[in-house]
Amino acid sequence: MIRTLLVTAAISIAATGVSAAQTIGFSQIGSESGWRAAETTLTRKEAEKRGIDLKFSDAQQRQENQISAIRSFIAQGVDAILLAPVVATGWDSVLEEAKEAEIPVVLLDRQVDSSDDLYLTAVGSDLVHEGEVAGQWLAENVGDQECRIVELQGTTGSSPAIDRAKGFRNAIEGKDNLEIVRSQTGDFTRTGGKEVMESFLQAENGGQDICALYAHNDDMAIGAIQAIKEAGLNPGEDIKIVSIDAVPDIFQAMAAGDANATVELTPNMAGPAFDALEAYMADGTMPEKFIQTESKLYTQSDDPQAEYEARKDLGY
Ligand code: AHR
Repeated sequence: MIRTLLVTAAISIAATGVSAAQTIGFSQIGSESGWRAAETTLTRKEAEKRGIDLKFSDAQQRQENQISAIRSFIAQGVDAILLAPVVATGWDSVLEEAKEAEIPVVLLDRQVDSSDDLYLTAVGSDLVHEGEVAGQWLAENVGDQECRIVELQGTTGSSPAIDRAKGFRNAIEGKDNLEIVRSQTGDFTRTGGKEVMESFLQAENGGQDICALYAHNDDMAIGAIQAIKEAGLNPGEDIKIVSIDAVPDIFQAMAAGDANATVELTPNMAGPAFDALEAYMADGTMPEKFIQTESKLYTQSDDPQAEYEARKDLGY
């Protein structure tokens, strides 16, 4: 009898001594790009390192799937939610439901149009600034030369598509020799980038009338490079190419002379997100509403082969 009581007591001490692992729901957009794949990999790794039970949901690019996932996380009583929102609008109701349930939400890499009291913080880059960095690079590189630019936009209605378009236009405003002659979404995918670039080339005298491509991400630029080669032109020379993300494959393209510049977006959004959540859950510390990551420009003179080697095993 005494032995049984001692064993029971030991078990209950052990149970209370171990703090319950946090459960965090992650509503991811999908896997449209190499960058997105890396963000998913790094989020899983970071969660594992910290002993977090990560409930992952792939929305396959659909907002309604993200809304259902968030509702399911709320019903399961998770401790927090990470949300990479596919588009900027339409989140008010579900974010209010999370707030009502006292579950903090952290936005990853994209912004929403909702009031900022509906989420704890947002981790991401200054998306307008990214577009400005790309535009400034092109403006400096082109100088006084007449330059007809084509633009591959990201997913329509997403904050990076809206803001990267805006930033680029800010940078080239007032430069009469630079003109965006065509702009269309390639949905942040390689196939989208290739298809849309094919139509741009066809419409612009086989590409002879295009001086530069601005792509809202590297994957679309890589698809476009393929289309440019198939049209018999030299990407990186006949058509200058600037894009955003800094994925390994764009460095390979830069090393081969096929692409010119990229603006880095770190895929490690989860590290700062989990830090903010841990502090908030420990003692209620409120993070800044926006935790900004760096936007660094890389060009062909930054040893792209070495950059490729440094990134190639990071989950892209
Ligand atoms: O929101 C970040 C963007 O989404 C990345 O630049 C792009 O590759 C991704 O799909």
